[in-house]
Amino acid sequence: MQETNFLIDNNARHVWHPMAHPAEMQAGPPKIIASGAGVEVTDIAGKRVLDAVGGLWNVNLGYSCEPVKQAIREQLDALPYYSAFRGTTNAPLIELSYELADWFAPDGLARSFFTSGGSDSVEICLRLARQYHKINGQPERTKFFALKKGYHGTHFGGASVNGNANFRRNYEPLLPGVFHLPAPYPYRNPFNLTGPAELAQAIARMFEDEIAFQGADTIAAFIMEPVLGAGGVIVPHSSFMPLMRKICDKHGILLIADEVITAFGRTGAWSGSRLWGVQPDLMATAKAITNAYFPFGAVMISPKVAAAFESNKDALGSIGSGYTYSGHPVGAAAALAALKETKRLNVAANAAARGTELLAGLEGLQAKHALVGDVRGIGLMCALELVSDRAKKTAAAKAVVNTVYEATYEAGVLVRTSGANVILSPPLILTAEDVQRIIAALDTGLSAAA
Ligand SMILES: Cc1ncc(COP(=O)(O)O)c(C=O)c1O
Repeated sequence: MQETNFLIDNNARHVWHPMAHPAEMQAGPPKIIASGAGVEVTDIAGKRVLDAVGGLWNVNLGYSCEPVKQAIREQLDALPYYSAFRGTTNAPLIELSYELADWFAPDGLARSFFTSGGSDSVEICLRLARQYHKINGQPERTKFFALKKGYHGTHFGGASVNGNANFRRNYEPLLPGVFHLPAPYPYRNPFNLTGPAELAQAIARMFEDEIAFQGADTIAAFIMEPVLGAGGVIVPHSSFMPLMRKICDKHGILLIADEVITAFGRTGAWSGSRLWGVQPDLMATAKAITNAYFPFGAVMISPKVAAAFESNKDALGSIGSGYTYSGHPVGAAAALAALKETKRLNVAANAAARGTELLAGLEGLQAKHALVGDVRGIGLMCALELVSDRAKKTAAAKAVVNTVYEATYEAGVLVRTSGANVILSPPLILTAEDVQRIIAALDTGLSAAA
């Protein structure tokens, strides 16, 4: 490891950071995180903070999860890599596919397809959806529907279904045949509806109308996050996903649940689909599947989709997608250990309990600080939306959001800001005391920006 001064001098000088402007990063280099333990990380200056970002919604079990570390070490010694392309496989991959079939049985999912992360998982879902219809003799079903404010990674397919302009504009033109519905976002929506249930109905009507316009037999799939994460933690009404499931069923459209954030307990349920009582046709997972210690993902596939492929007798059923690291033995071993620990600690129940406390604390901050326009969340995914004018809902300026971020950090808690949203996605092993630490630090941060 190089000396501290070398790291500080070269920070952001020779690298372009993801999701950042290179010039901005050079002008204001990022914090150098040097170590992590439990729910805390320590920066290179020795400042220890509670990580209310949870890495990037993925370090669900914290930074000291010894069983996952041990599984990685052991697998590196036994078999550090082998390909899972046709002809070879490995033991952890087989075991993980068995475990995941059990884990996701309540979601009606039976098969896995392994990837290297969330964007890859989304891409595979989109591809398999189109292929499913081709196998079934409906090759014209190629279009996709998605939600504005949805985040589905940054591959071209994922960016095309993505519902945030800042991940799209600079890369257009994207995939043709992708259509977006309004987000189930009561705070701001084109219908001016504040009732979440009414809003769900309005979006469902619009979906029906658009399907009639496009022709159901041209649509492959509808993709949604059960709770929209990166778009600002938008929690739909409980009727929303079931409504969308019903419409998809009526028109032969596949439902893809993007659970890259919500799978494995973050919402307080073991999956976002289960939270809403919906069984998707395909599910994208990644992130917490290895507790973030290894880049890995899994697409989960329903028996209906699996049957189409497995009973196919020609080349249409052959999967022409996959990654060198699909089913990486070290990733699979990490995932097996992470799943075991996730279950043993019953982190979904803790996410639900701590999430209720966190949301109550954030509502207290909203009552106290005019800067907080809206508070949203479920389980351990929450957001504060900052506004400069509550009545007009004017988004807070970048400098104000930055002051909240820096002052909260100084007060001992690392949060994530995205536009005017402060997003919280701490590890699911959070304690009640940790929740109070987050609220107190945010209180300081918001006061600094007032
Ligand atoms: C819902 C969702 N889908 C897909 C992705 C993309 O995952 P990755 O960054 O691992 O490619 C993310 C990442 O945050 C996500 O939140």
